Amino acid sequence: MDKTRTIQRPATVRDFAEHKRKGEKIVVMTAYDALFGRLVDESGVDAILVGDSVGTAVMGYPSTLPVTLDHMIYHASAVRRGVERALVIIDMPFLSYQASVESAVLNCGRAIQETGVAAVKVEGGSPYMLDTVNALVRTGIPVMAHIGFTPQSVNTIGGPRVQGREEEGAERLIGEAKGLEEAGAFSIVLELVPARVSARITAAVGVPTIGIGAGPECDGQVLVLPDVLGLNDTFEPKFLKRYAEMARDVRSALGDWARDVRSGAYPDAEHSF
Ligand code: KIV
Repeated sequence: MDKTRTIQRPATVRDFAEHKRKGEKIVVMTAYDALFGRLVDESGVDAILVGDSVGTAVMGYPSTLPVTLDHMIYHASAVRRGVERALVIIDMPFLSYQASVESAVLNCGRAIQETGVAAVKVEGGSPYMLDTVNALVRTGIPVMAHIGFTPQSVNTIGGPRVQGREEEGAERLIGEAKGLEEAGAFSIVLELVPARVSARITAAVGVPTIGIGAGPECDGQVLVLPDVLGLNDTFEPKFLKRYAEMARDVRSALGDWARDVRSGAYPDAEHSF
């Protein structure tokens, strides 16, 4: 186990508040299956988000909109089976929580019940979403909120655009974050938000902010696993830093193996019975 992880027992949502209180950065990574769930957990991250980014990163969809609750339950159950210590959070997909507060409670409850994960993430900070978050928390479902660029609203936003560049937009985001904290969210993802605005939001709320493309002042950071590992090597947004070049390594390893099979070099005596 990575000794840089500050908590060695299984994490809970309460640890997020404790990390913020102590000024410790919170490390969140996505995962979509048991194999990578285990590896990400063993790397020592604090939390694993089973993001609906599975739609674009793994399933080959052009956006997260086609991802269903059944898809998310399948992937989150797999991740949960691979993880021992990190907090696992399921991202609720498009249409699973927006239609009514009641459907949100039932769908989020089903997600928790069927996957065994500890918390849900939902997008948006409108007054309607504050009621939804409040109802979920009252039901006993911890909620990670998500504001700034919210990918499930890509068609109304018109693309992955930085949010809150102008003062009016920045004020709106600060108001949403305060409302979400009051509604009971245990943390707030800030996506594609200028660093100076993230700093203001982070100072304005008591719950941790987790940034993606939101600068260094957030209380923690989240990135999408295949992007960080360089598996998705055609995706190169400004905020992304790659820590491996796995697409190159996969192509090269499988190319070597194919060559060996074709030449008869594999399997040799050592790898035969
Ligand atoms: O779906 C996802 O992976 C996310 C993160 C990028 C925050 O929402």
